Amino acid sequence: MTTIEQSSRFNLGDRAVKRLGYGAMQLAGPGVFGPPKDPDAALAVLREAVAAGVNHIDTSDFYGPHITNRLIREALHPYPDDLVIVTKVGARRGEDASWLPAFSREALTQAVHDNLRNLGLDVLDVVNLRVMFDVHGPAEGSIEAPLTALAELRQQGLIRHVGLSNVTATQIAEGRRICPIVCVQNHYNLAHRADDALIDDLAREGTAYVPYFPLGGFTPLQSSTLSDVAQRLGASPMQVALAWLYRRAPNILLIPGTSSVAHLRANLAAAELDLPADEVAALDRIAAGHS
Ligand SMILES: NC(=O)c1ccc[n+]([C@@H]2O[C@H](COP(=O)([O-])OP(=O)(O)OC[C@H]3O[C@@H](n4cnc5c(N)ncnc54)[C@H](OP(=O)(O)O)[C@@H]3O)[C@@H](O)[C@H]2O)c1
Repeated sequence: MTTIEQSSRFNLGDRAVKRLGYGAMQLAGPGVFGPPKDPDAALAVLREAVAAGVNHIDTSDFYGPHITNRLIREALHPYPDDLVIVTKVGARRGEDASWLPAFSREALTQAVHDNLRNLGLDVLDVVNLRVMFDVHGPAEGSIEAPLTALAELRQQGLIRHVGLSNVTATQIAEGRRICPIVCVQNHYNLAHRADDALIDDLAREGTAYVPYFPLGGFTPLQSSTLSDVAQRLGASPMQVALAWLYRRAPNILLIPGTSSVAHLRANLAAAELDLPADEVAALDRIAAGHS
């Protein structure tokens, strides 16, 4: 079995997690809505991840909704002591599977309790406030009211640590005046590098950066350069994309999503892939428009 014992670690709140983790969003049904076609296959992916050494799983109660968290509970509860489950609040699903903001104090409180119940926990390790001014990317606007509500839930002992998702540097600074921010989760991969400067700033401060859509998400990465590099290294393009992120900065924690045990194994093996400097230079040119 693939194991990631050699993976380097970085602090997520008060615990050092392995930098190769797992994002559970792909376990729900098509469009992250409803149950998966094969629930046993979803449970197998989660069990394989933990057996391989993953101790950081990313989720939300709005995946499904409720489905992904219930699968995590069924597959893994009682949880290993070292497992850190990170969830997110701030959105809800419409009946048509749309993604809607859910930022009121009542909605955030409800979401925290939904996560606790469906995951079978008394306290959530890390909760990201998923900002929804623009669902597709960070947009300016004050996060004071919802983050204050979340910080109060932390004061009540329902949450250990708070993070932010889909945010700008200005919002991170505003957030830090309200409560400690242990991680930032934004859209980033080798073709989408708007957060380059932010990642380096967070690395200097010791804050984890968790790229979502590390493989391109709903539109998987496609690039002739990426394919060529992969072929030269005897790896798959997705493994190269993950190896590039792994090498990009020490504070990057990877949460690639997959519903397949075979893809999970391939993804976890990416930490061991050595990327020579000239191949990194070629990959760096992808975001500059030379695909
Ligand atoms: N904060 C936010 O707003 C936000 C937004 C989106 C996601 N997230 C989190 O980030 C995690 C990662 O993002 P993501 O799952 O959306 O996208 P992703 O990791 O970029 O890509 C997932 C896609 O890549 C495919 N894939 C995975 N491994 C592969 C491999 N080795 N070879 C070929 N295809 C492969 C998956 O299909 P298969 O299932 O067939 O492998 C799936 O279609 C999510 O699971 C979620 O926890 C957060």
